[in-house]
Amino acid sequence: MNADIIMPPQVAWATGLLTHGPVIAKTTRMSDLRGVFADTAAWQCHDPQQVIYTVEMLDTPTPEGALFVGVTRLRAGTSGGEFYLTRGHFHQRREQGEVYFGLSGNGLLLLQNEQGETRLEAVFAGSVHIIPGETAHRLINTGDVTLCALAVWPTVAGHDYAALAGGFAVRVFASENGYEVCHA
Ligand code: F6R
Ligand code: MN
Repeated sequence: MNADIIMPPQVAWATGLLTHGPVIAKTTRMSDLRGVFADTAAWQCHDPQQVIYTVEMLDTPTPEGALFVGVTRLRAGTSGGEFYLTRGHFHQRREQGEVYFGLSGNGLLLLQNEQGETRLEAVFAGSVHIIPGETAHRLINTGDVTLCALAVWPTVAGHDYAALAGGFAVRVFASENGYEVCHA
């Protein structure tokens, strides 16, 4: 009887490590983030090979209705005083939402709708973030250790990075009190 029990994929909550499943990984380095930080001169001073974030996701089938599961690991640091961040995107299929779960570290989830209205949610171990459709999203690591978050999103969602290539309306910089939110 026990032979029928399937061992599912597993996520290590503290590290975000995905195991027991077919995992595909993508690494985003400083050189990939041209034009993403406000201060281009400061960005140019970094090692272009420096890893800023990785995404590991389960390589699941993609029929309509299926879901992807992935873990983002965003390193701690700043460029020109601006905290390390993910590129951020709308979904290609704008109506498709997503859920993020904070696993470890501390940061912010920046949400911005099509009208340019923004909000920031605190990300921490155990935080749950319901990202509605029509809403761009970006992780920002305001802490001093890697920020890990689990995401679940529809396989049909796709990614539109171009729509916000000019930047989000809000940037987050390091300050004496932790962080400072600046509106463009
Ligand atoms: C998937 C999703 C996350 C991000 C990841 C990296 O829809 O939102 O898995 O893809 O946090 O961010 P981007 O894709 O903006 O580089
Ligand atoms: Mn997404």
